Amino acid sequence: MRVGVLTGGGDCPGLNAAIRAVVRKATVTFGDELVGFRNGWQGVMEDDAIPLDIARCRGILPRGGTILGTSRINPFKAPGGVERAIATVERRGLDAVIAIGGEGTLGISRQMAEAGMPVVGVPKTIDNDVNCTDYTIGFDTAVQVAVEAIDRLHTTAESHDRVMVCEVMGRHVGWIALYSGLAGGAAIVLVPEEPFDLEAIAQHISRRHAKGRFATIVVVAEGAKPKPGTLDLPPAEIDQYDHERLGGIGAVVARELERLTHLECRVTILGHVLRGGTPTSADRVLATRFGIAAVEAAHDGAFGTMVALRGASIERVSLKDATGTLKSLDPALIESVTRIFLD
Ligand code: F6P
Repeated sequence: MRVGVLTGGGDCPGLNAAIRAVVRKATVTFGDELVGFRNGWQGVMEDDAIPLDIARCRGILPRGGTILGTSRINPFKAPGGVERAIATVERRGLDAVIAIGGEGTLGISRQMAEAGMPVVGVPKTIDNDVNCTDYTIGFDTAVQVAVEAIDRLHTTAESHDRVMVCEVMGRHVGWIALYSGLAGGAAIVLVPEEPFDLEAIAQHISRRHAKGRFATIVVVAEGAKPKPGTLDLPPAEIDQYDHERLGGIGAVVARELERLTHLECRVTILGHVLRGGTPTSADRVLATRFGIAAVEAAHDGAFGTMVALRGASIERVSLKDATGTLKSLDPALIESVTRIFLD
């Protein structure tokens, strides 16, 4: 077989581990030839690719980022983009394209599969918001980095009896915020799924500190929103892909909490730190298992599918089921795990 590989969307730790697994499985088990498209679907559209083999993948397992580069370029939004992408695959005689990406890249993969391209998807994003898979590549590392930061915020908060607001990524969903908040011992976690009321939160914090508790950690996802009419937020900038450029809600939350509680509040924005650097062992294992399973799916002709973690096993799900909506937090989970840490 001739196989093309790409990484699209925002990068995350573990992409190189997935590329390496694809290359090794395809080469060792099947004797395939591989090319890596540069910068996601843009590379397919513009026929920009490099040869990939085992030698090229040596040493990349622990490295963050992606040796192929990435972008959010969508051929469906570029003039003649789809036709050009399909022509590239045909001209190169590719039997399969393995697309490693989040909701955007996998959505394009689904449309390409519907247009007849032999595509298999692999889910990655630190946000963990892809449907039909328990976890995506990159999420575990992002949570680990956030928890290390929160542990550090605890000790400085205790010294000063301060409220520490820690903003993490999470445009539409609060997986990173909730998991890092739980693991890091946050008192309050604010997520996009559940609009917040800062006055009520300020009362909880004041009560906590009045009881002699100190070091309140508030974890806020960048996409968290106040309940309508409770707090004005400045309008977000829009990037070239029509996405809101988020980041900054933490500063607003810290400023308002300081005003309402009269306690000293500080903010730390983790932002892209969560996306960079070396992947955790859990992400390396997940990426490796996904990469192997994607090559097997391609050899079984299971195009239009995505490999997914369901419980302990790797399964195939349809790209149609996996894309279109995001996997958000279950409100019952938010409720059950956050209530007991308020006091
Ligand atoms: O990868 C998803 C994500 O981490 C979102 O949580 C965040 O809003 C977005 O990427 C920011 O990406 P960029 O700065 O690359 O546009």
